[in-house]
Amino acid sequence: MSPSTESQAAGEHAELLAVALEAARRAGALLRDGRPADLGVAATKSSPIDVVTEMDIAAEKLITSHIARLRPDDGVLGEEGASSEGTSGIRWVIDPLDGTVNYLYGLPSWAVSIAAEKDGRTLVGVVEAPMRGETYQAVLGGGALVNGRPARCRPAPDFAHALVGTGFGYLSQRRAAQAEVVRTLVPRVRDIRRAGSAAIDLCDVGCGRLDAYYERGLNPWDLAAGDLFAREAGALTGGRPGEPASGELTVAAPPGLFEPLQGLLEELGAWHD
Ligand code: IPD
Ligand code: CA
Repeated sequence: MSPSTESQAAGEHAELLAVALEAARRAGALLRDGRPADLGVAATKSSPIDVVTEMDIAAEKLITSHIARLRPDDGVLGEEGASSEGTSGIRWVIDPLDGTVNYLYGLPSWAVSIAAEKDGRTLVGVVEAPMRGETYQAVLGGGALVNGRPARCRPAPDFAHALVGTGFGYLSQRRAAQAEVVRTLVPRVRDIRRAGSAAIDLCDVGCGRLDAYYERGLNPWDLAAGDLFAREAGALTGGRPGEPASGELTVAAPPGLFEPLQGLLEELGAWHD
Protein backbone atom coordinates (compact mmCIF):
# COMPACT_ATOMS: atom_id res chain seq x y z
CA MET A 1 0.00 0.00 0.00
CA SER A 2 1.37 3.46 -0.84
CA PRO A 3 1.56 5.94 2.08
CA SER A 4 -1.38 7.94 0.73
CA THR A 5 -3.57 4.82 0.28
CA GLU A 6 -2.56 3.74 3.77
CA SER A 7 -3.59 7.02 5.35
CA GLN A 8 -6.85 6.97 3.34
CA ALA A 9 -7.58 3.48 4.74
CA ALA A 10 -6.71 4.62 8.28
CA GLY A 11 -9.11 7.56 7.88
CA GLU A 12 -11.87 5.26 6.68
CA HIS A 13 -11.27 2.83 9.56
CA ALA A 14 -11.38 5.67 12.10
CA GLU A 15 -14.68 6.92 10.65
CA LEU A 16 -16.22 3.43 10.68
CA LEU A 17 -15.01 2.85 14.25
CA ALA A 18 -16.57 6.10 15.46
CA VAL A 19 -19.92 5.16 13.87
CA ALA A 20 -19.80 1.65 15.39
CA LEU A 21 -18.83 2.90 18.86
CA GLU A 22 -21.62 5.46 18.98
CA ALA A 23 -24.27 3.05 17.62
CA ALA A 24 -23.20 0.33 20.08
CA ARG A 25 -23.13 2.78 23.02
CA ARG A 26 -26.65 4.01 22.24
CA ALA A 27 -28.08 0.53 21.69
CA GLY A 28 -26.39 -0.74 24.86
CA ALA A 29 -27.91 2.08 26.89
CA LEU A 30 -31.35 1.43 25.40
CA LEU A 31 -31.12 -2.27 26.28
CA ARG A 32 -29.76 -1.66 29.79
CA ASP A 33 -32.10 1.20 30.74
CA GLY A 34 -35.16 0.26 28.72
CA ARG A 35 -35.57 -3.40 29.68
CA PRO A 36 -39.20 -3.80 30.74
CA ALA A 37 -39.67 -5.61 34.07
CA ASP A 38 -42.22 -7.89 32.40
CA LEU A 39 -40.10 -8.54 29.30
CA GLY A 40 -41.50 -11.45 27.31
CA VAL A 41 -40.83 -13.31 24.09
CA ALA A 42 -42.00 -11.40 21.00
CA ALA A 43 -41.36 -14.22 18.51
CA THR A 44 -39.40 -17.41 17.96
CA LYS A 45 -37.07 -18.21 15.07
CA SER A 46 -35.30 -21.49 14.26
CA SER A 47 -36.90 -23.38 17.19
CA PRO A 48 -39.24 -22.64 20.14
CA ILE A 49 -36.20 -21.79 22.34
CA ASP A 50 -34.64 -19.42 19.77
CA VAL A 51 -36.36 -16.26 20.98
CA VAL A 52 -36.60 -12.60 20.02
CA THR A 53 -37.77 -9.85 22.39
CA GLU A 54 -39.19 -6.44 21.52
CA MET A 55 -35.82 -5.05 22.73
CA ASP A 56 -33.78 -6.99 20.13
CA ILE A 57 -35.96 -5.38 17.48
CA ALA A 58 -35.81 -1.87 19.01
CA ALA A 59 -32.00 -2.07 19.34
CA GLU A 60 -31.58 -3.15 15.72
CA LYS A 61 -33.78 -0.25 14.56
CA LEU A 62 -31.71 2.21 16.58
CA ILE A 63 -28.44 0.90 15.14
CA THR A 64 -29.58 0.77 11.52
CA SER A 65 -31.12 4.28 11.71
CA HIS A 66 -27.87 5.64 13.16
CA ILE A 67 -25.85 4.04 10.36
CA ALA A 68 -28.31 5.11 7.65
CA ARG A 69 -28.15 8.72 8.89
CA LEU A 70 -24.34 8.88 8.87
CA ARG A 71 -23.49 6.45 6.07
CA PRO A 72 -26.51 6.15 3.76
CA ASP A 73 -24.60 4.30 1.02
CA ASP A 74 -23.47 1.36 3.17
CA GLY A 75 -25.13 -2.07 3.21
CA VAL A 76 -26.39 -3.77 6.38
CA LEU A 77 -26.99 -7.31 7.60
CA GLY A 78 -28.73 -7.58 10.96
CA GLU A 79 -29.88 -10.58 13.01
CA GLU A 80 -33.42 -9.25 13.22
CA GLY A 81 -33.86 -8.90 9.47
CA ALA A 82 -32.06 -5.70 8.44
CA SER A 83 -30.68 -6.39 4.99
CA SER A 84 -29.63 -3.99 2.25
CA GLU A 85 -26.91 -4.09 -0.39
CA GLY A 86 -25.59 -0.53 -0.35
CA THR A 87 -23.27 0.96 -2.96
CA SER A 88 -20.17 1.99 -0.98
CA GLY A 89 -18.63 -1.50 -0.62
CA ILE A 90 -18.97 -1.34 3.18
CA ARG A 91 -21.39 -3.73 4.87
CA TRP A 92 -22.37 -3.53 8.53
CA VAL A 93 -22.90 -6.86 10.29
CA ILE A 94 -25.04 -6.33 13.36
CA ASP A 95 -26.17 -8.39 16.32
CA PRO A 96 -28.30 -5.91 18.26
CA LEU A 97 -28.48 -8.23 21.28
CA ASP A 98 -26.16 -11.23 21.48
CA GLY A 99 -27.14 -13.35 24.44
CA THR A 100 -30.88 -12.78 24.15
CA VAL A 101 -31.71 -15.67 26.49
CA ASN A 102 -29.45 -14.18 29.20
CA TYR A 103 -31.14 -10.79 28.68
CA LEU A 104 -34.58 -12.37 28.92
CA TYR A 105 -33.70 -13.99 32.24
CA GLY A 106 -31.89 -10.93 33.65
CA LEU A 107 -28.43 -12.51 33.45
CA PRO A 108 -25.69 -9.97 32.72
CA SER A 109 -23.80 -11.67 29.85
CA TRP A 110 -25.24 -9.99 26.79
CA ALA A 111 -23.82 -7.54 24.28
CA VAL A 112 -24.33 -5.43 21.20
CA SER A 113 -22.04 -6.51 18.37
CA ILE A 114 -21.33 -4.31 15.34
CA ALA A 115 -18.75 -4.91 12.61
CA ALA A 116 -18.00 -3.17 9.32
CA GLU A 117 -16.65 -5.30 6.50
CA LYS A 118 -15.35 -4.71 2.98
CA ASP A 119 -14.63 -7.35 0.35
CA GLY A 120 -15.36 -10.06 2.91
CA ARG A 121 -12.82 -8.74 5.46
CA THR A 122 -13.84 -7.23 8.78
CA LEU A 123 -12.30 -3.77 9.10
CA VAL A 124 -13.63 -2.73 12.50
CA GLY A 125 -15.52 -4.45 15.28
CA VAL A 126 -17.19 -3.18 18.44
CA VAL A 127 -18.75 -5.29 21.19
CA GLU A 128 -20.54 -3.33 23.89
CA ALA A 129 -21.31 -5.22 27.13
CA PRO A 130 -23.24 -2.73 29.31
CA MET A 131 -23.65 -4.94 32.40
CA ARG A 132 -19.86 -5.39 32.49
CA GLY A 133 -19.33 -1.69 31.86
CA GLU A 134 -17.01 -2.69 29.01
CA THR A 135 -16.54 -1.77 25.38
CA TYR A 136 -14.32 -3.96 23.21
CA GLN A 137 -13.07 -2.43 19.98
CA ALA A 138 -10.73 -3.58 17.23
CA VAL A 139 -9.47 -2.26 13.93
CA LEU A 140 -7.87 -4.52 11.32
CA GLY A 141 -4.10 -4.16 11.79
CA GLY A 142 -4.71 -1.59 14.53
CA GLY A 143 -4.99 -3.70 17.68
CA ALA A 144 -7.72 -4.37 20.21
CA LEU A 145 -8.78 -2.20 23.14
CA VAL A 146 -11.02 -2.84 26.12
CA ASN A 147 -12.29 0.39 27.61
CA GLY A 148 -9.46 2.14 25.80
CA ARG A 149 -6.69 -0.13 27.16
CA PRO A 150 -4.79 -2.63 24.98
CA ALA A 151 -6.19 -6.16 25.16
CA ARG A 152 -4.01 -9.24 24.86
CA CYS A 153 -4.89 -12.95 24.94
CA ARG A 154 -3.14 -15.22 27.44
CA PRO A 155 -0.07 -17.22 26.46
CA ALA A 156 -1.07 -20.77 25.56
CA PRO A 157 -1.31 -23.05 28.58
CA ASP A 158 -0.86 -26.81 28.43
CA PHE A 159 -3.93 -28.31 26.81
CA ALA A 160 -4.91 -29.92 30.12
CA HIS A 161 -4.93 -26.48 31.81
CA ALA A 162 -7.06 -24.68 29.24
CA LEU A 163 -10.29 -22.96 30.25
CA VAL A 164 -12.46 -23.39 27.16
CA GLY A 165 -15.67 -21.54 26.34
CA THR A 166 -18.29 -22.92 24.01
CA GLY A 167 -21.96 -22.60 23.13
CA PHE A 168 -24.86 -24.66 21.87
CA GLY A 169 -27.27 -24.05 19.01
CA TYR A 170 -31.04 -23.90 19.28
CA LEU A 171 -31.83 -27.15 17.46
CA SER A 172 -31.98 -30.27 19.58
CA GLN A 173 -30.26 -32.54 17.02
CA ARG A 174 -27.33 -30.09 16.83
CA ARG A 175 -27.18 -29.88 20.62
CA ALA A 176 -26.94 -33.64 20.93
CA ALA A 177 -23.90 -33.62 18.61
CA GLN A 178 -22.39 -30.65 20.47
CA ALA A 179 -22.88 -32.44 23.81
CA GLU A 180 -20.92 -35.44 22.47
CA VAL A 181 -17.98 -33.17 21.62
CA VAL A 182 -18.07 -31.58 25.10
CA ARG A 183 -18.26 -35.04 26.67
CA THR A 184 -14.90 -35.91 25.13
CA LEU A 185 -13.34 -32.51 25.77
CA VAL A 186 -14.29 -31.87 29.39
CA PRO A 187 -12.05 -34.56 30.97
CA ARG A 188 -9.10 -33.30 28.90
CA VAL A 189 -9.11 -29.59 29.84
CA ARG A 190 -9.22 -27.43 32.98
CA ASP A 191 -12.93 -26.74 32.52
CA ILE A 192 -15.64 -25.65 30.14
CA ARG A 193 -17.68 -22.42 30.24
CA ARG A 194 -21.02 -21.75 28.52
CA ALA A 195 -21.69 -18.07 29.15
CA GLY A 196 -24.38 -17.48 26.49
CA SER A 197 -22.98 -14.77 24.22
CA ALA A 198 -20.62 -15.75 21.43
CA ALA A 199 -19.52 -12.13 20.96
CA ILE A 200 -18.47 -11.88 24.62
CA ASP A 201 -16.82 -15.32 24.52
CA LEU A 202 -14.60 -14.20 21.64
CA CYS A 203 -13.75 -10.95 23.46
CA ASP A 204 -12.98 -12.97 26.60
CA VAL A 205 -10.36 -14.91 24.64
CA GLY A 206 -8.92 -11.55 23.53
CA CYS A 207 -8.86 -10.27 27.14
CA GLY A 208 -7.32 -13.44 28.59
CA ARG A 209 -10.44 -14.41 30.52
CA LEU A 210 -10.79 -17.63 28.57
CA ASP A 211 -7.93 -19.59 27.06
CA ALA A 212 -10.02 -20.69 24.11
CA TYR A 213 -13.50 -20.74 22.61
CA TYR A 214 -15.16 -22.84 19.96
CA GLU A 215 -18.68 -23.24 18.65
CA ARG A 216 -20.48 -24.71 15.66
CA GLY A 217 -23.45 -22.91 14.11
CA LEU A 218 -22.65 -19.23 14.64
CA ASN A 219 -24.12 -16.65 12.31
CA PRO A 220 -22.03 -13.84 10.76
CA TRP A 221 -23.47 -11.31 13.24
CA ASP A 222 -22.50 -13.45 16.25
CA LEU A 223 -18.86 -13.64 15.29
CA ALA A 224 -17.79 -10.74 13.02
CA ALA A 225 -16.78 -8.17 15.66
CA GLY A 226 -15.54 -10.64 18.31
CA ASP A 227 -13.47 -12.58 15.79
CA LEU A 228 -11.58 -9.41 14.80
CA PHE A 229 -11.14 -8.47 18.46
CA ALA A 230 -9.68 -11.87 19.34
CA ARG A 231 -7.27 -11.77 16.37
CA GLU A 232 -6.14 -8.22 17.04
CA ALA A 233 -5.50 -9.26 20.65
CA GLY A 234 -3.07 -11.94 19.46
CA ALA A 235 -5.31 -15.00 19.20
CA LEU A 236 -5.66 -17.17 16.13
CA THR A 237 -9.17 -17.77 14.84
CA GLY A 238 -10.43 -20.18 12.23
CA GLY A 239 -12.84 -22.92 11.37
CA ARG A 240 -11.90 -26.38 10.13
CA PRO A 241 -8.14 -26.63 9.44
CA GLY A 242 -7.22 -24.08 6.77
CA GLU A 243 -10.63 -22.41 6.82
CA PRO A 244 -11.68 -19.09 8.31
CA ALA A 245 -14.10 -18.95 11.24
CA SER A 246 -17.62 -19.56 9.98
CA GLY A 247 -21.00 -21.04 10.77
CA GLU A 248 -19.53 -24.49 10.24
CA LEU A 249 -17.05 -24.00 13.08
CA THR A 250 -15.44 -21.11 14.93
CA VAL A 251 -12.30 -21.65 17.02
CA ALA A 252 -10.31 -18.95 18.83
CA ALA A 253 -7.20 -19.49 20.97
CA PRO A 254 -3.61 -18.29 21.28
CA PRO A 255 -0.95 -19.87 19.03
CA GLY A 256 0.16 -23.11 20.63
CA LEU A 257 -3.31 -23.95 21.92
CA PHE A 258 -5.24 -23.14 18.75
CA GLU A 259 -3.60 -25.89 16.68
CA PRO A 260 -4.20 -28.86 19.02
CA LEU A 261 -7.73 -27.66 19.82
CA GLN A 262 -8.60 -27.23 16.14
CA GLY A 263 -7.07 -30.65 15.43
CA LEU A 264 -9.07 -32.35 18.17
CA LEU A 265 -12.31 -30.64 17.08
CA GLU A 266 -11.65 -31.87 13.54
CA GLU A 267 -11.12 -35.40 14.84
CA LEU A 268 -14.31 -35.22 16.91
CA GLY A 269 -16.34 -33.92 13.95
CA ALA A 270 -17.30 -30.74 15.82
CA TRP A 271 -18.12 -29.15 12.46
CA HIS A 272 -21.13 -31.35 11.70
CA ASP A 273 -24.32 -32.39 13.49
C1 IPD B 1 -26.52 -16.85 20.53
C2 IPD B 1 -25.43 -16.65 21.56
C3 IPD B 1 -25.03 -17.98 22.17
C4 IPD B 1 -24.58 -18.96 21.11
C5 IPD B 1 -25.65 -19.13 20.05
C6 IPD B 1 -26.02 -17.77 19.45
P1 IPD B 1 -28.33 -14.88 20.30
O1 IPD B 1 -26.89 -15.62 19.94
O2 IPD B 1 -24.30 -16.03 20.97
O3 IPD B 1 -23.95 -17.84 23.07
O4 IPD B 1 -24.32 -20.19 21.73
O5 IPD B 1 -25.08 -19.95 19.06
O6 IPD B 1 -27.04 -17.96 18.51
O7 IPD B 1 -29.39 -15.81 19.80
O8 IPD B 1 -28.35 -14.69 21.76
O9 IPD B 1 -28.23 -13.61 19.53
CA1 CA C 1 -26.39 -13.58 18.38
